[in-house]
Amino acid sequence: MVEFAGHSVSVRHDGQGPAIVLIHGYPLDGAMWSSVARRLADRFRVWKPDLPGRVDNPTSAEGSMSSYADFVQAVIDSADSPVGLAGFSMGGYVAFELMKRRPAPVKALALVDTRAASDDEMGKANRQAAIATVRAEGLGPIAEAMLPKLLSADGMKRADLLERVRRIILRQSPQTMESDLTAMRDRSDSSDLLPLLSLPTLVVAGEHDVISPPGEGRAMAQKISGARFVEIAGAGHLTPMEKPAAVAQALGEFFERALSPKS
Ligand code: MLT
Repeated sequence: MVEFAGHSVSVRHDGQGPAIVLIHGYPLDGAMWSSVARRLADRFRVWKPDLPGRVDNPTSAEGSMSSYADFVQAVIDSADSPVGLAGFSMGGYVAFELMKRRPAPVKALALVDTRAASDDEMGKANRQAAIATVRAEGLGPIAEAMLPKLLSADGMKRADLLERVRRIILRQSPQTMESDLTAMRDRSDSSDLLPLLSLPTLVVAGEHDVISPPGEGRAMAQKISGARFVEIAGAGHLTPMEKPAAVAQALGEFFERALSPKS
């Protein structure tokens, strides 16, 4: 249980070993990490919390990255040990917000299919249009618009994967999606943070990611001292669901080295 905003929030975690916390993206919840978490749980204690306003987290979503970061901070504090933190896409934006506060327990950082830049004017207008859609029509059109951006062309042909991603999206509440879109629209630029990061960092991107393309991931890694970059072959944006074995291998090797007592 994690105490947050006057609630006791049940946060799923599994396995034994050093603690790692996996933060999900939009328009998703912690279940997007399930296949990766299962593979890591033989060596790590793995948390994959739902951010506020989702299935296992009844606290209200406040529409800001800093409120999401407050919640992740509470999860990290509950682990009561050094942690490795991985943020996927919007989860990476939350991780950047948290890293600006230099949280002592975070010993290693994985930035998965994410970007440091904030939204430009066009990006902000697109968020506003998505907010109008979600208010007027709910999650259906959001799911259909997002699926081809989340998955590669090959991923879109896998009926089981498509169904799993669609199911996660359709169970989100319109209010929470409006909160995510507002938080992403208004997030601050984190580019200046990159050269200041002084902890082991891994950057991961899918070969065919159209939301945070691998070229941007590689450039981001070059701005972080000592960071490694791993490209996930054959995957789109949603690498943890499309290629969980490759993502688990990259994260497992990285966190094992970075969180070992000798490092
Ligand atoms: C995500 O995958 O979390 C979002 O698509 C990121 C974004 O839209 O900027």
